[in-house]
This record gives sequence, structure tokens and C-alpha cells, in this order.
Amino acid sequence: MTIKPLIILPDPVLRQISRPVETVDAEILRLADDMLDTMYDAPGIGLAAIQIGVDRRMLVIDVAKEGEEKQPLVFINPEIVSSGSERSVYEEGCLSIPDYYAEVERPAVVTVRYIDREGKEQTTEADGLLATCLQHEIDHLNGTLFIDHISKLKREIVIRKFAKAAKLRGSKAI
Ligand code: NI
Repeated sequence: MTIKPLIILPDPVLRQISRPVETVDAEILRLADDMLDTMYDAPGIGLAAIQIGVDRRMLVIDVAKEGEEKQPLVFINPEIVSSGSERSVYEEGCLSIPDYYAEVERPAVVTVRYIDREGKEQTTEADGLLATCLQHEIDHLNGTLFIDHISKLKREIVIRKFAKAAKLRGSKAI
């Protein structure tokens, strides 16, 4: 089990655009396992590779309810191929922006094409929490955070708060 340190706002790494995975090899499968271990430990319901500092287009999700059996999902090179016109609102959070939550409106249904752990291309239609989670995580692969979907004023307040906390952490390290 390998739990990796999480990259936290305002680290510029979170703004990087991740590169596609070329081959699903042992290294990529190990990365998927590390991402799942890190996500479950946090705990969270989704994690993109860039959140542990790896700029690869990969994400893991588990939206199983508490008490239900784990349902780990791995998406490699995921792409939204279509979105429904209906929209839904969820209160989102992010492991890279700890203890901050805000309502975000997104398409309620999305169709996502991706490569699975066996290296096979798959297409899935998602709704509910899975649809929101997929969109949130795919945003990470493009350097976008959920706070980019809230008002500029609210976003600036959050970024300022996290920048201040990072500065404090920095000065403690000296
Ligand atoms: Ni996130």
C-alpha cells in the first residue's frame, strides 16, 4: 500500500495539463493502485493523478455508499464525448482544497470514453454523483479546479486563504 502526499492549492502543479497515457503497462497499473490507496486513505471519492504530482491523464473514482462494498473505478485517458442538456447541482469538495465545499452546477448526464485497466477502450454513460465526479476529475486533467466554476469573488477568497496557509507552512519549515 502506497499513500502519496496530496498536492494542495495554490500549488501551480494543479494548473498543469496532464499528458495522455501511451501504454497501460505495469508502471501505470502501479500508479492506479497508489491513486486508489491515496484516495481511500484521505478519504475521498475521486482522485486525478496530478493531485499526487503525476501529469498523466488518469483518474480513480469510488462512489459506493458508506457500508457498501468498494467499487474502485480506473479511467485512463478519459474524454467526455457528449453531455445531456439537463443540469444538476452538487456540493463539491476536493482533496486538493481540504475542508472547502461549494455548490457547482454541471450537466446531469455525461458519456465518457476511456481506456480501462486491461488497456481496452470503453464508453460509459454516467448520471448522478458519478457524472459529477467524472466531470470534476476530468477537469483536473486540464488544470481546472471546481472553484473555477464558482463566483470570482468566492474563488479569490479561497485562493487567498490557501495561499496564506501555504506561506505559514513554508515559514515553519525554515
Ligand atoms: Ni478534486
